[in-house]
Amino acid sequence: LFVITGANSGLGFETACNLASMSPLNSVVLGCRDMARGETARTAIVRATGNEHVRAMQVDVASLASVRSFATQLVGQSQRIDSLVLNAGISRGVAETSDGFDGVFETNHLGHFLLAELLLDQLAPDGRVISVSSDMHSPPGPRLRWPGVESIAYPSRRASASIRRYSYSKLCNLYFSYELSRRLRADGSTIEALAFNPGLMTDTNFAPSLGPLAAVMERVFASRLGNLTTSARALAELAAGGGGGGLVDGQYFDRTAERPARSSALSYDEANARELWEFSEQVTSQSG
Ligand SMILES: NC(=O)c1ccc[n+]([C@@H]2O[C@H](COP(=O)([O-])OP(=O)(O)OC[C@H]3O[C@@H](n4cnc5c(N)ncnc54)[C@H](OP(=O)(O)O)[C@@H]3O)[C@@H](O)[C@H]2O)c1
Repeated sequence: LFVITGANSGLGFETACNLASMSPLNSVVLGCRDMARGETARTAIVRATGNEHVRAMQVDVASLASVRSFATQLVGQSQRIDSLVLNAGISRGVAETSDGFDGVFETNHLGHFLLAELLLDQLAPDGRVISVSSDMHSPPGPRLRWPGVESIAYPSRRASASIRRYSYSKLCNLYFSYELSRRLRADGSTIEALAFNPGLMTDTNFAPSLGPLAAVMERVFASRLGNLTTSARALAELAAGGGGGGLVDGQYFDRTAERPARSSALSYDEANARELWEFSEQVTSQSG
């Protein structure tokens, strides 16, 4: 069983399609905030792949209550999860969620943190938790500095320009993956945690429509360009237990499943990762 958040469009949708077509025995749960969009995606995947084991389920990762209810439904099932793909994401907007957090932080990091925590025992022994991060965890221009978790999490404490919100959230995805991997190893678990960067994809719903600016953007970000088809294939391969050339756990994969890559120096700071983990654990446990 494969569970993918934000699977009704873009990378999540294409990855679900790949997984459904790899084997008729693969079951895929599309975690979607809008069930009409989720059902449309489900129908399209079943039609394209002939695999009927595809389900859309409601989850809003910007709401801790919604994440809990989604996880409860999955925990009640007999099927073990082979891979949990934490993919849903936004780049801007949602100044503050109903839970009181920065919207980009809660959508991209905190909701997924809680989801992974609640589903960990439901994963297969050789299961994987995959965070879809971004090379924007290290944006072009002045080097990103860690301002402390509270100024990222709470809109009222925000110290930095809002343009950094996305980069911080994607840095949090890496801190989460690396810290989860360390904790799993310390517990003697065989579950693996890893992160993936699909590269800049101009053909998903993610970026605002750039019109004539698209060509300029693609030149400026030439070294960061990704491709929806190849990135979805790579992500599906990692989710299906492949890739990595023998080295997967605690690694970062940049647009390919073949070999791990290095993320920014800041992303390997273990004290920051611990600070984020402890904060996330504390605020999500208060929400239950
Ligand atoms: N596109 C890029 O250039 C790029 C580059 C690097 C990394 N990424 C990462 O790739 C991932 C997928 O993005 P994409 O490019 O495929 O964009 P996309 O087409 O906009 O897909 C994002 C998905 O996340 C869902 N989503 C957003 N907020 C949600 C919430 N609160 N609860 C549940 N689902 C939610 C969206 O649902 P709705 O349809 O309901 O909005 C959509 O299905 C993101 O994590 C992004 O950070 C993208």
